[in-house]
Parts: sequence; C-alpha cells; structure tokens
Amino acid sequence: MNAKARGRFITFEGIDGAGKSTQIALLADALRARGREVLRTREPGGTELGEKLRELLLGTDMHPDTEAMLMFAARREHIAAVIEPALAAGAWVLSDRFSDATHAYQVGGHGLAAARCDALEAWVHPGFAPDLTFLFDIPPESAAARLAAAETAPDRFEREQRDFFTRVRTAYLDRARREPARFRILDATREAKTIAAAITASIDEKAWQ
Ligand code: TYD
Repeated sequence: MNAKARGRFITFEGIDGAGKSTQIALLADALRARGREVLRTREPGGTELGEKLRELLLGTDMHPDTEAMLMFAARREHIAAVIEPALAAGAWVLSDRFSDATHAYQVGGHGLAAARCDALEAWVHPGFAPDLTFLFDIPPESAAARLAAAETAPDRFEREQRDFFTRVRTAYLDRARREPARFRILDATREAKTIAAAITASIDEKAWQ
C-alpha cells in the first residue's frame, strides 16, 4: 500500500483582535467536508508543556530574550510532538500563529534583536516553514474595538498600547512582502463570509492533492 501523502501546514497570523479564530474554525469545517483530516492547534501552546509556557508568557512580564526563547521552546515541542507527526500522517495542520508571530511581536513589538530571532528559528526548525500563511491585516484601532467588545479579560499582550500593535502590524506586513509565495494578506476589516471565501480561494489556487 502507498504511504499517505504528507499533509499541509497552514498558519494564521495578525495582531490581536483581527478575527483569526472564527476563520480557522470555518476553514477546518470546510476542509473536513471535503474529506481532509484536519488538526487545529495554536501557539504558544499545542502541547501540555506548551500550554504551561503559554500561561507564563501571557501572564508574566519578562525580558524580550526570555520571551523569545520560551516561545521557541514551546514551538520545539509543538513541532516534534504534534505538527510533524500529524503532517507525516497526512493531516492538514491549521495553526493559530507560528514563528512569524515571534518576528512580529518580539522583534517588531518588543525590540528583540532580529538576528536573535533568526538564530532561534534556524535552531528550532531549519528548513521547515508553513506551506501557506494567512496574514489578517487590520488597523490597530479596529482590532482594539473588537477586543473591547469581547467578554474576556485582556492578557499581557492585549494590554499593550496602540503603537505596539502598529509596530507588530508593520513587521508582519514587511515579512509578508518579503515572502509573497507563502503569504496571503487578507483585509480583515471585511465581513467574515467574504474573508472565508478569500481563504478558500487561496487554498483552491494551490491545487493541492
Ligand atoms: P492568541 O492565541 O492569538 O491570543 P488569544 O488566545 O487571546 O486570541 O495569541 C496569544 C498572544 O501571544 C498574542 O497576543 C500574540 C502573542 N505571541 C507572541 O508574542 N509571540 C509568538 O511567537 C506567539 C506565537 C504569540
């Protein structure tokens, strides 16, 4: 019998309040309806250790180097224990954030040296990258209005000021423009169903088997 074809790794990025979660759920349903096996996961998190690190990362102030190292520590576990085995078994992995978030938030937002982030990435996942990344682009003021309407208490990142999110957004857009084949920039101010259609169209365009 033939081995199952390797799955696809799709990541979702953007500033807090951009509306990623809704779209990840919609895409997971759409892919399952087409008979794909889908694994939904998130960063920081995705493993038992990763979720513990997430709690620390979202709740405790720390040096930007510490923050980046913990993000990549969680990611190392996530790749080894969840992402890689799922892809090898043929599942499509949808991850709410991955390494682009560390470049955008820790380098762009918190001033981590870009070379340090590059070095950590080269250590943790050399030669491995998402097959496709959706960047939910939204002005920080619109995202802030959405977060304010949410019932949940803001975490350490969500409490950051407007200029922080402007820097994170710029860092994301710079990255997306440097890697146009991997990124799709989505205008996240549009209606959910319009965004969902754009996402499905981008996947169809790839013509993945
Ligand atoms: P997210 O899951 O989008 O938050 P929520 O559950 O509130 O929707 O992401 C958690 C936070 O972690 C978010 O503010 C971005 C931040 N983050 C980083 O700063 N660096 C990273 O590498 C990752 C993966 C997340």
